[in-house]
Amino acid sequence: MSRAPEHPADFERKVLECWHDSATHWQQLIDQDSVASRIITSPAIEQAVLSYQPSRVLDVGCGEGWLARKLAKRGFQVTGVDAVESLVNAARAQDPHSHYLCLEYDALPGPLADCQFDLAVCNFSLFGDQSVQRLVTTLLDLLPAHGHLLIQTLHPLSACQGDYREGWRNSQWQGLNEHGQQLGEAPPWFFRSLAGWLTLLQQSGRLVHMQEPLDPETRLPLSALFHVQPVRQQDRNKP
Ligand SMILES: C[S@@+](CC[C@H](N)C(=O)[O-])C[C@H]1O[C@@H](n2cnc3c(N)ncnc32)[C@H](O)[C@@H]1O
Repeated sequence: MSRAPEHPADFERKVLECWHDSATHWQQLIDQDSVASRIITSPAIEQAVLSYQPSRVLDVGCGEGWLARKLAKRGFQVTGVDAVESLVNAARAQDPHSHYLCLEYDALPGPLADCQFDLAVCNFSLFGDQSVQRLVTTLLDLLPAHGHLLIQTLHPLSACQGDYREGWRNSQWQGLNEHGQQLGEAPPWFFRSLAGWLTLLQQSGRLVHMQEPLDPETRLPLSALFHVQPVRQQDRNKP
């Protein structure tokens, strides 16, 4: 196992290194439905997207593209972005009519600057600290006033593991069956409290709705699903 990062920039880099190393096995896990909580969280994000009936969707951190594919099959125009080339290639191979780009979040908007989307979605794809703050602003700037940004993330209450202070954490893969043992090192992630998420989202947007899909056995929330609309730059940070 490599040395744990010590500085914020090292953590941000390490997130991507870990995803590069685990891509092949991650794809297998998703293909085999091996992440138990996704029985609840995948329909939740799909239904959230459908509730807005967007024509053009940007799937940010699309991975091997399961969500993009589902939306494309419903006739939506989908663009997927992910930093890991093998995942982007897998997404493209299964859905040649949609548009998939191999890009790190910090390279956005880049080639998408002139594209128009009605909705952007980040499904369990936000791990960083500063990079996530920049990305949320970039995505909200890309959307029209009536557009929506949807973010599904592990629920802070369930993910805090008894320590609710914000900060970088090294983590272990959790909630996976035996196939999960083949994954490489789990990516570090920046733990945000619920208040931390709200502060981040309100910097450049307006939280219009929030869902907390529950684990039917533990009755605790598996995820937090935020629905955010853009706020024009001149109106930001006004009470
Ligand atoms: C847990 S997977 C989720 C994939 C997909 N959204 C899903 O629902 O299965 C997280 C994805 O985010 C991508 N990702 C994380 N940080 C990224 C970054 N800074 N730039 C681009 N992609 C990133 C990873 O490569 C990985 O494919």
